[in-house]
Amino acid sequence: MIIFAIESSCDDTSAAVIKAEADHRLTVLSNVVSSQIEIHALYGGVVPEIASRAHCEAISHVAREAVEKAGITFDDIDAIAVTFAPGLIGSLLVGVSFAKSLASVLKVPLIPVNHIEGHVAAAYLENAPEVLTPPYLALVVSGGHTSLYEVSDYITFTEIGGTTDDAAGEAFDKVGRVMGMPYPGGAAMDKLASRGFEHYDPAKKDSLHFPSPAKGDDSLNLSFSGIKTAAINHIHTTKQRLKLEDDDPMPDEIREEIAAAFTHAVCTGIAKKLDTALTQKKYSSLVMAGGVAANSHLRRHIAEVCKKNGVRFVVPSIKLCGDNAAMTAAQGYHMLRYGLTADSSLNAFASDEGALEYLNHLRQTAKTPD
Ligand code: KG4
Ligand code: ZN
Repeated sequence: MIIFAIESSCDDTSAAVIKAEADHRLTVLSNVVSSQIEIHALYGGVVPEIASRAHCEAISHVAREAVEKAGITFDDIDAIAVTFAPGLIGSLLVGVSFAKSLASVLKVPLIPVNHIEGHVAAAYLENAPEVLTPPYLALVVSGGHTSLYEVSDYITFTEIGGTTDDAAGEAFDKVGRVMGMPYPGGAAMDKLASRGFEHYDPAKKDSLHFPSPAKGDDSLNLSFSGIKTAAINHIHTTKQRLKLEDDDPMPDEIREEIAAAFTHAVCTGIAKKLDTALTQKKYSSLVMAGGVAANSHLRRHIAEVCKKNGVRFVVPSIKLCGDNAAMTAAQGYHMLRYGLTADSSLNAFASDEGALEYLNHLRQTAKTPD
């Protein structure tokens, strides 16, 4: 079976083609991602209207490229999956409208995919069913989300913990920006922290420490607003102490130390709550997904917690952590097995709640998969 998918929830226009075998093994035939980062970097963050217009401009070309690269024709497509929520409404609407038109012309089923579930499903693209099959625990860390989900079957995600305010990616981007990095700062912070860990040792007496995002209770809740504010205040005070103007760069060693201390607090905080979750209930696998799952330090910390708890650690390769349509296709394939398709009135939803309400309703019609 050939699944074609569209993902346009934020600032990447993506189209992909995957092939599903009868035993549910998935192969990516193409995964085209057209990034808008260069446009938004000029403004220090995503400008929603510009994002919608850029999706509108790119989508037909990206879709055609995905089909060509996959070595198929549009007529070979058996179903179309599309991210319908959550995200920027104008961005989502471009993808949803395009997917609806294509599904209607090709007379194939249309599958509405939740962006978060898509991130998690990226793991199926590199792990065959005998390696990864629900139930498992999923940790989604992205620019908009930082949450723990119990995935009890391919279509049932229950949030059991996560941030009560900002997402981890948002915090990385904000601190990166105050340190003068172009948007989004997450990947640059990763590299800066690596250099920082060559001279920063969190165990050393008097070393720089930021407040932990892990709440000091038994809950699975996190909060990134405190650490974000503490890091930004620290950057400002350091600049004042060094008599630097706002736009002046700080010395490399100081920037590296801040990036390392910030990364250390973020990683140990998330790792602590994951450890609590794994202690409270036994899971065979942990899937970490989303843009921040690309962070080399976080991958190391989470791998350690999994090892300690005897849980298999599954994380997509870096290219499948960020937004891409192959992940949407993977979740779409499994939803199709349960008969979860949308009719031609499908709409986009900006919020998590909108996505949940629509999918909960749809799930009531689910059939037993093959
Ligand atoms: O999943 P994603 O592509 O988009 C959302 O759904 O939000 O995640 C984007 C986020 C951005 O905040 C970006 O800075 C962050 O992922 N990110 C990273 C790394 N690579 C991307 N954060 C930390 N370390 C990285 N290596
Ligand atoms: Zn995402």
